[in-house]
Amino acid sequence: MTAPLRTERLLIRHWTLDDAEAAYKIYGSPEVARWITMKEVDDVSAMRSVLEAWVEAQPNLVPPAGRWAVVRLADNEVIGGLSLRLLPPFEEDFELNWQLRPDAWGHGYATEASRALIRWAFDQGLEEVFAVARPENKRAIATARRIGMEWVGETDKYYDGRRLQVFRYRPSDL
Ligand SMILES: CC(C)(COP(=O)(O)OP(=O)(O)OC[C@H]1O[C@@H](n2cnc3c(N)ncnc32)[C@H](O)[C@@H]1OP(=O)(O)O)[C@@H](O)C(=O)NCCC(=O)NCCS
Repeated sequence: MTAPLRTERLLIRHWTLDDAEAAYKIYGSPEVARWITMKEVDDVSAMRSVLEAWVEAQPNLVPPAGRWAVVRLADNEVIGGLSLRLLPPFEEDFELNWQLRPDAWGHGYATEASRALIRWAFDQGLEEVFAVARPENKRAIATARRIGMEWVGETDKYYDGRRLQVFRYRPSDL
């Protein structure tokens, strides 16, 4: 994305190395780490190394792939992250991923940010986007439904055979 995306309450922009402390509040939180494939980050310095890798990788990713920070406009705080990537192991389906630091749950921020990112991704020519969640990840599943994603079923074809609920969104769902 060349320019940040703006919604009513949020800004979606590229990560920078200055985001390490804010990102640690998201990815260092056990409540977030337990649900995502990324290993829990131990401290701010480890978070900074992860951000370095993300920042370095970003220019080489083919749109709409990417990782972005979600900033709350009211206080300019980075409260979450979003990513679009090809689902392993086949790398055919694009997955939308969202994470918020726990004290920002319950305000509709993941839904608002995801809708804006999906719209942008479809403008780039993406024809469908998926979200996958463990069956017991009730909040992620509720968010997928709130975004307006359609439930496709359960699969074990992604991520080392782990059983996952699959949701899909197409431009006609906008
Ligand atoms: C998944 C995750 C992002 C969901 O966070 P969230 O805040 O519940 O997500 P939403 O943006 O959909 O917000 C919905 C909640 O905000 C409330 N809300 C308040 N204002 C709202 C608004 N304007 N619009 C929509 N919802 C609003 C809803 O009622 C709902 O509240 P409830 O959970 O008490 O029912 C968060 O739990 C998280 O980071 N989990 C760990 C990482 C993870 O699992 N990621 C997904 C991997 S598959």
